[in-house]
Amino acid sequence: MDRPLCHDDPIDDIGRNDSANPTLGDIVTARLSRRAALGLLASTALSSVAARPASAQAASSLAFREVTGKPSPHHVVAAGYRADILIRWGDPVVAGAPAFDVKNLSAAAQDKQFGYNNDFLAYMPLPLGSTNSEHGLLVANHEYTSTAFMWSGITRETVLDQMTRERTEVELAAHGLSVVEVRRTGGTWRVVADSTQNRRVPMTTPFRVAGPAAGHDRLKTNADPTGTRVLGTLNNCAGGKTPWGTTLHGEENFHNYFSGEAPADREADARKRYGVGTSRGGYRWWGRHIDRFNLAKEPNEANRFGWIVELDPYDPTSTPVKRTALGRFKHEGATAIVNKDGRVVLYAGDDERNEYIYRFVTSGRFDPANRAANMNLLDDGVLSVARIEADGNLHWRRLVHGEGPLTAANGFASQADVLIEARRAADLMGATKMDRPEDVEPDPVTGVVYAALTNNSERKDGDTNPANPRAANVHGHILAMIPPGGRGKDADHAADVFTWTIPILAGDPSKPEQGAKYHPGVSSDGWFSSPDNVAFDAKGRLWIATDTGSNWAKYGIPDGLFACDVDGPAAYLTRRFFACPMGGEMCGPEFTPDNKTLFVAVQHPGTDGTSGSSFDTPATRWPDFKDDMPPRPSVVVITKEDGGVIGT
Ligand code: FEO
Ligand code: CA
Ligand code: CA
Ligand code: CA
Repeated sequence: MDRPLCHDDPIDDIGRNDSANPTLGDIVTARLSRRAALGLLASTALSSVAARPASAQAASSLAFREVTGKPSPHHVVAAGYRADILIRWGDPVVAGAPAFDVKNLSAAAQDKQFGYNNDFLAYMPLPLGSTNSEHGLLVANHEYTSTAFMWSGITRETVLDQMTRERTEVELAAHGLSVVEVRRTGGTWRVVADSTQNRRVPMTTPFRVAGPAAGHDRLKTNADPTGTRVLGTLNNCAGGKTPWGTTLHGEENFHNYFSGEAPADREADARKRYGVGTSRGGYRWWGRHIDRFNLAKEPNEANRFGWIVELDPYDPTSTPVKRTALGRFKHEGATAIVNKDGRVVLYAGDDERNEYIYRFVTSGRFDPANRAANMNLLDDGVLSVARIEADGNLHWRRLVHGEGPLTAANGFASQADVLIEARRAADLMGATKMDRPEDVEPDPVTGVVYAALTNNSERKDGDTNPANPRAANVHGHILAMIPPGGRGKDADHAADVFTWTIPILAGDPSKPEQGAKYHPGVSSDGWFSSPDNVAFDAKGRLWIATDTGSNWAKYGIPDGLFACDVDGPAAYLTRRFFACPMGGEMCGPEFTPDNKTLFVAVQHPGTDGTSGSSFDTPATRWPDFKDDMPPRPSVVVITKEDGGVIGT
């Protein structure tokens, strides 16, 4: 395993949902008739195209020539495009940052340099409120560190002793967020060196805690008796942007960082539900060297992670905020859309096997003319969880203290308790167990909300449910959640009931036993496994980034970026646009407003599924390809050679 050594960690995704929530196996039969009517709409409608895959390819609005899905030490982008390295782990960010010296890592240097394992990316135009597509801020998550690729000689057996306090503090500094000013000049994107806008947010940055759980006893520690001030953010996976120009960052596998014997206090069951204190392979040295990650010394510190954090990247002095109203779970990310009534709706996935999809609807309304009035919108609203029925409906069930079972009788003394233990509240509300919900994001053109369900190899026969129809679902699928009211801006994202369908079941369509489902015209390069991040271009087309983990070698395809129409004769005809270097995961697809630039993040190159790969003997030395440099997670900037719009 060992998440800190590499990404091949089954532990972080082990399901811990012991709730009796229905698997709905008993109503699959009922669903079959419904799927005929709704769920299989796409394949039914497109079956006439099946006999003409070539013409289907021609019908796609995506005109790029597909990339071959063959593993390689290099990245590959579609012909006619440039894919340049923009910034790498260790590159200077903050003014005065030293040059990267991989043999002499220090926390002081790393605090000012680009962090490890870039994941979510947000392009924020400059100035604020503009659609400037050649000058902006690029915000990046640094999800975690791959210890064995940062120092020479790390082994699973010896890592605990090899990771000194000094090295551990480098890891802390390599987590968190980065903000860099970027500018396109003469067709080439560059980071603006020493910009006063550039910022690092490592684990030493103070965060404010806001919302109903702020100041609650369960968030108080020796270092913070107020329960309102936390240092840093952990395991930031995906994220989103708000309409008022801030960025949202999910805290995902926070449990990996806590070790030591927790006291047998009232938190014991809650810790278990989140896997805190049970991780066998996590960053055990953090708790050894730093008290707050030692559960014996600071049993409440873990309650201060697992939130959505909000950053104002336009103000480099701003204090980032943990928004507790959005609930505590293993947040993949959170994406926002302004509903037709002005309320802001956010969608979020809890990325673990058999966990849930959530939605938050603000009480207040977005005011486009008053940014300050929007800055605390996320502190007041209603969190709900998805209950998906065989009849084609999806019900948003409210997680509100005092409603239904969410009362003191069940251990919820207040809304703070509901939020701190959002998973247990969702259990009681009958949420539907999903196949690891990663990105959940609304298509701004169609209004349809897409959820990437990355995989769930542990789902058993008889444990399937209509929205997660495959047992041992190693390839994952895409769930489309459809708000009522109409298309695009007419969609009512705050409605209690949506409908749903499954447009894509991932896997190799040439192997019928996998049960894959795409547009029948998909090519041998166009299929994928384990969808993770999704994005939409200005036409509302769906871009899917994959995280196949160590299985890519078995499937013979590298992770990458795929795109498809969501409407018309080539709907869900996925086509491969980009291939990661081997062992790397594709993250953070992010377009500039003019769609002429696409930023992507290559995470942990050379690690996943690369037996024996390490700092000393990496499977690839991407992107530097220098003998003395290990592979480095890096942001890649993609432009069309003719300067045109991506994907046309
Ligand atoms: Fe960090 Fe959910 O992938
Ligand atoms: Ca992810
Ligand atoms: Ca996304
Ligand atoms: Ca993932």
